Parts: sequence; structure tokens; C-alpha cells
Amino acid sequence: MKITVVGTGYVGLVTGTCFANTGNTVACLDIDPQKVETLQQGEAPFFEPSLSELMTRSIEAKRLVFTNNKASAYENADIIFICVGTPTGIDGRCDTSHVLQVADDIASHVADCNSQPIVIVKSTVPVGTTHKVAERLRGTCAVANNPEFLREGNAIEDFMRPDRVICGIEDDDAKRVLTKLYGPFVGQGRPLLMFDIRSSEMVKYASNAMLACKISFINEISSLCERNGANIDNVRTGMCSDNRIGTQFFRPGLGYGGSCFPKDTLAVIEMGEDANAPCLVNTAVHEINKRQREWFVDRILGHFDYCVKGKKIALWGLAFKPRTDDVRDAPAIDIARTLLSAGAEVTGFDPEAWETFQQEVPDIEIAMDMYSALDGADAVVICTEWSQFSAPDFEQVKALLNSQVIFDGRNIYTPEDMRELGFQYYSVGRPTMEICAT
Ligand code: UDX
Repeated sequence: MKITVVGTGYVGLVTGTCFANTGNTVACLDIDPQKVETLQQGEAPFFEPSLSELMTRSIEAKRLVFTNNKASAYENADIIFICVGTPTGIDGRCDTSHVLQVADDIASHVADCNSQPIVIVKSTVPVGTTHKVAERLRGTCAVANNPEFLREGNAIEDFMRPDRVICGIEDDDAKRVLTKLYGPFVGQGRPLLMFDIRSSEMVKYASNAMLACKISFINEISSLCERNGANIDNVRTGMCSDNRIGTQFFRPGLGYGGSCFPKDTLAVIEMGEDANAPCLVNTAVHEINKRQREWFVDRILGHFDYCVKGKKIALWGLAFKPRTDDVRDAPAIDIARTLLSAGAEVTGFDPEAWETFQQEVPDIEIAMDMYSALDGADAVVICTEWSQFSAPDFEQVKALLNSQVIFDGRNIYTPEDMRELGFQYYSVGRPTMEICAT
């Protein structure tokens, strides 16, 4: 099949590359000529395991091209995927203007060429947006919605072996085409589910809101554990052995960040306001997520009696989660900014996200390896659970730190081990360990 993917962000690039990998001919369109040039070399503009290798393979096989020329990208396309960004606008609402602009571009192309591609909205959009795209196309093409559920750092695997594929599709011919297109990715317990368009749009928001809710829920219970002398590890183990509750997305920590959960919970709240049906749970989920970071950074400041002027604090992990260089809404940003504005010197290390982070927080000093970040620091704060932080050489850590203090925002160590090793150890929802007097 001939596929055009509009937008080469996370969703567009992974979608285009994976469809090319199953033998389709894919043109990825982006308005940024510099980005297109980089992509043509097989270089992904962000870090995602296996993506560049897969891109290069398909470029060499001439199944994947990148262009900023709309006419050539739309020419002869059987299917056009709209994968452009839907950022939160200045008014806090989901900005769908890029999606609608692409719909207008496609409308003028089909009018000129008399072609009839299937137009599929893959961008995350508020309910009703796919119908607005259909209105812009004035009935010339079949229109569908097909949300993505990719996790950064796992995007290729998630695309190739999805839990499910959701399509909001109401046209029978288009249903047949999409069944064929997704054939290599579904089956064997991985369903292709076809719904009406509005339900499909809603599944995406409802799924992300539910996952965000689980995270805020466990973080709220963690706060209760801290204040009542309970241990969240035991509480969580006890809770999760009830099959109805399940085990996933219950890791306490600094809360969620990234490009989806923060934006999507806000969009759900906004949909509730528009429908005069306030989304109270989602509002609380959002508030708890903000509070979690504020409380954690307050504990750091509290440890220093709210006087960090002249103190040096090291951050391990800057990305919003491991295996990505994405720092969008990363807890480390809020933590670094608060510490810097209180007068601390902040040094950070991240295996992938140091450049992107420094663009957000220029005053941070970046260390090129995890140990040099600790040199002379008065504490280390673990903001992201990269695997290389899970078993460091603690003797080296102790030798480099000015004082033996760890703030573990991701609960990657056990409090008892830390006490034995001689650290003052703060974590989330578990007792703080003081340094043993010897
Ligand atoms: C998410 C969804 O999982 C994906 O389906 C959707 O399409 C896009 O948003 P992603 O943002 O890549 O994917 O990351 P994910 O692994 O889901 O984690 C999101 C955030 O939640 C991270 O900040 C992570 O640290 C946090 N998290 C996750 C927790 O704090 N606790 C958990 O138990 C799980």
C-alpha cells in the first residue's frame, strides 16, 4: 500500500517506519526542511531504541522517503495518516489547529487531483475532531480515527506487537483496507477493534487518564504511608495481590511526566468543562501529580533547613523516564529549577537527555558520567530510574559525596540496605533512614 504520514514526531516517525518495515511504500511529510534532511540520512531526531536501524533498512530498500513537498507526498497515496502535534495551547486547551490545517491541505490536493485516499487521524484529539476533519474534506474521502498507545523507549515493540489496535471507522471499504494494513501486527490475542469514531477518540483519553490515575492514586497512598509510619512497598504488595487491582502502573515516585499523561489529563478536564460534566477524578489526578514533585523538593530543602545557598546537589536522571531523551514535563525540571532559584548549585547526569535538559534549564551543570556528577555534592537526587543507577559502586558514591545523603525519587534502593551502607536515605512512602551512629 502507498502510505503518507504527515508529521515526523514520535508518532509519525514510528508509524511510518513500522509500516515501511512490513513492505508498504511510505512517504513521511514534514514542513521542516532541516529535519527532513536529517531523516533522509536515517537519523531519528530523538533517541528511541532500534528506530534509526529500522529507518535505515527501509530507506535503503526504497520503501521509506522523507519530504517537505506536499504535492509529491500526497500524490497516489492510498492512505494518509495525520500525525501532527496537538499541544496544549496558551489557554490550556488542546490545540487542534495543525490537524485541521493538514485536513485543508489534503482537501485542496484531492480537489486538484481527483484522488480518494483514506484519511486517518492518529494525533491525539478531543472527541469530535475527526468529524471536523471529515467536514473539511467535504465527503471526498473516507475518514477514520486510529489512536496510538506507544510508550517512549518501547515504541517499536509496542507498534509491532500492540496489546490492541483501535480504529474509529464507519466506512466499510476503509474497514477492509485497515484490516489488511494492520494484519501483520494483530492476531494471536492482539485484537483489531473497530468502533465508531467518537468512541475511538475517547478510548485514547480514557486509557491514558486511567493510567495517570493509578500513578496519582499510589502516590497519594504513599504520602499517607509516610505520615503514618507505614511502608508503601508492603502496602502495594498487599493491594496488588488482589487480582482485581492488578500490578501495573502502581510504582510510586515523582509522578508522571512526558508528552501524553500531563496533556491528556488536562484535555479530559477540558472536555468535562465543555460538556458541563466536570471530571473530578481527573482534576485530582492532575493536582496530586503536581503536589508530588512539590513535596519531594520540599523534603530536599527541609533537609538543609531551607538554606541551600552554596550547597551542591547532584541529579541522577533528567529524562521524564528511562530509555528516552525526552524531558517534556520531567520532574527533574521542576526539581532543578526550584533548587537553582533557592541558590543551590545543581549538577545533572543523564545517559541520553543531557542536551535536551540543558535547553530547558541552562543553569544546570552537566556531568558526562554518573560519578563525576557526585564530586563534592551535598546530596544526590534520583529523578529517573535508569538501570545503571540501580547498582552503583556505593563506596565510590560515598567517597565522592560531601555528605552521605540520597533522595531517591523512584524507590530504586531498599531503605535497610542504604542504612547499612551508611547513607541518610529519603524515598517515597517509606521510612527515612538516618545514618547509624557507630
Ligand atoms: C504513555 C502511555 O503508556 C502510552 O500508551 C501513550 O500512548 C503515551 O503515554 P509514555 O509517556 O511513553 O507512554 O510513558 P509511560 O511508560 O507510560 O510512563 C509515563 C509516566 O508515568 C512516566 O513519567 C513514568 O515515570 C510514570 N510512571 C509510570 C510512574 O510514575 N509509575 C508507574 O507505575 C508507571
